[in-house]
Amino acid sequence: MRTIGAMTTAGALAGHVAFITGAGSGLGAAFARRLAADGAQVIINDLNAEAAASLAIELDGDTAVFDVCDSVAFDTEIDKAVERHGRLDILITNAGIAPPSDPSRTEQMIANQMARMEGRLADMVPPDSLVSLSDDDWDRMIRVHLHGSFYGTRAALRHMTPARTGAVVNVSSVLGLRPMSGAAHYAAAKAGIIALTKSAGQEVAPYGVRVNAVCPGWIDTPLLAPMDPMLMAGIVMQIPRGRLGTADELAELVRFLCGPESSYCNGDVFAASGGFV
Ligand SMILES: NC(=O)c1ccc[n+]([C@@H]2O[C@H](COP(=O)([O-])OP(=O)(O)OC[C@H]3O[C@@H](n4cnc5c(N)ncnc54)[C@H](O)[C@@H]3O)[C@@H](O)[C@H]2O)c1
Repeated sequence: MRTIGAMTTAGALAGHVAFITGAGSGLGAAFARRLAADGAQVIINDLNAEAAASLAIELDGDTAVFDVCDSVAFDTEIDKAVERHGRLDILITNAGIAPPSDPSRTEQMIANQMARMEGRLADMVPPDSLVSLSDDDWDRMIRVHLHGSFYGTRAALRHMTPARTGAVVNVSSVLGLRPMSGAAHYAAAKAGIIALTKSAGQEVAPYGVRVNAVCPGWIDTPLLAPMDPMLMAGIVMQIPRGRLGTADELAELVRFLCGPESSYCNGDVFAASGGFV
């Protein structure tokens, strides 16, 4: 039994220890709340110390404030969690960033779409998204998503494989399955996470440990807030379900992958995209 605020829990994950990266906001916060609702002890990682602390207080959890690109910090914090709680059952590698929005490029993309729809292909102007991508922007995107998922998965498996139990969920994206123009670094990082997940999942499957990935579609979180409303409306038009997803909807899928209900999911990849992929 655990007490969260005024609520006492004795759920299906009681006694389980879950480490969630990027849990100070959006999807990660929803995952932490969902696991805590089933009784898990949660450890909230984020770069944003204030956001992590506030959720940790709400869920009676711990904080681990560090950059997921820092492999030494990742190892240290995972080891600390195991020392403190005696086990690690769940890791969710979720921390992520979006390419910064560029209003002038967005305007050009919209003008290009109009020209394409009207058959005025000669009027289209190359957006040069890829050729103007800097080394630093490419590196940071790959480091946060792909390196961060690798560092976390490695650190967790060092404890889970000897214990012959545990679940890792890596957060990829529909853009890792269906890349779109304008964010090659994001799509490449998310596709890399899928390959990492499949390889790691196959490696540890015989030993009772599960590594799986989720590919969220377009989900209503602060990550999408900087996007141009016109562009967003164009994206929603391509989603057969007709709306953005919610973080709580994704949390149900992630909760499934964290628990014994998903015992036959090993190195598997699950999209929740309202039909977008
Ligand atoms: N929202 C979507 O539509 C969507 C779709 C597909 C995939 N995703 C993925 O889901 C994950 C969560 O995204 P979200 O929508 O909740 O975004 P969000 O911006 O609401 O939350 C991301 C959190 O990660 C933290 N973070 C960023 N870099 C970090 C780092 N280096 N170390 C530690 N923490 C860091 C941020 O501080 C923030 O709290 C990301 O990996 C994102 O790529 C989101």
